[in-house]
Amino acid sequence: MKDEIILAIESSCDETAISILKNGEELLANSVNTQIEDHKRFGGVYPELASRLHLENITAVLSFVLSLKGFDYRTITHVAVTGGPGLPGALQIGAMAAKTISQYLGVPLVDVHHLAGHIYANEFVESFEYPLLAVVVSGGNTELVYLPKPFEFHILGETEDDAIGEAFDKVARALGLPYPGGVWIDRTCQKEGIESFPLPKAKVDGYNVSYSGLKSHLIRMIEKEKKERGGTLPQHRVESYALSTEMAFVDQLLDKVELLKNDKPVKMIVVGGGVSANSYLRKRIRERFPNGPKIVIPPLWCTTDNAAMIAKAAHHMIRMDLLSPLSFNTRPNRDIEEEGKKTAIQ
Ligand code: KG4
Repeated sequence: MKDEIILAIESSCDETAISILKNGEELLANSVNTQIEDHKRFGGVYPELASRLHLENITAVLSFVLSLKGFDYRTITHVAVTGGPGLPGALQIGAMAAKTISQYLGVPLVDVHHLAGHIYANEFVESFEYPLLAVVVSGGNTELVYLPKPFEFHILGETEDDAIGEAFDKVARALGLPYPGGVWIDRTCQKEGIESFPLPKAKVDGYNVSYSGLKSHLIRMIEKEKKERGGTLPQHRVESYALSTEMAFVDQLLDKVELLKNDKPVKMIVVGGGVSANSYLRKRIRERFPNGPKIVIPPLWCTTDNAAMIAKAAHHMIRMDLLSPLSFNTRPNRDIEEEGKKTAIQ
């Protein structure tokens, strides 16, 4: 049988990434160009700059991937691309490149949902067993997504306000930590012996969570203490806030994961999105479910945005004939529950 060679492109936010995946397993190339340094001075992603940088970087990333020793680009059988959700301009750059390559090579296109990519990234660790619960945690999303079978997504729980990553970033900013704040909160509490303090839990019905109230409470506490101490916090207090924030944010989420797991059949729990790099979350989720279900956590290289995860999701979509016409449009606010329902292209 002919090999399936997917060239995948991801440009939904501040990473320009391209991968080549052979037969759904073998990652022949995986290149990520991050713009973090360029956005740092704005304290967050500046959308217009992101688009311009994607346009600048995409050719370099592509030629790097295609110059792979012994790789013949004519063996590519599919082109996959993140078609949403994401920053409108940023998505368009990746989509235009994907359309051009697919047209040039005469191979089909696969338009992939960004969060489906984050979920299926876990298949680099282990094959999925359904029904499955995906905990999607990033700068823009906090969702408990239930998959009774492949590519059927049901959002059973979500944040009622801020996403967990966004809340991490805002508390970090109050603490004077650099962007992206979640990364620095985590780094700040790596050493032994940091004292944590209890924080109130948001009372939210069902499987939803809320971070806005707790985030504002923390920022008020930090500002008050900074004022009392003449403008800055000593390092041990920054560490203490960082650890307490991490524990409160993650434990609140895991309470809802546990509730859902007790109510529904779940064979496997997987985690995805930028916040899945958080060390407390990675450790705690295993401790919370010692008797199952199986817990799968993506390798660190696969927690931030990358194209390997888009290729992995595309591999499943190809099997389900979920291909896209050349005329497909990017959708910045795309809903994951709509996935898997497209009309197959002949
Ligand atoms: O998925 P992602 O790379 O981008 C999108 O939001 O689409 O997630 C970025 C978010 C940021 O809020 C960042 O602060 C957070 O993930 N993050 C972390 C960690 N690494 C990244 N938050 C907590 N702990 C980490 N280790």
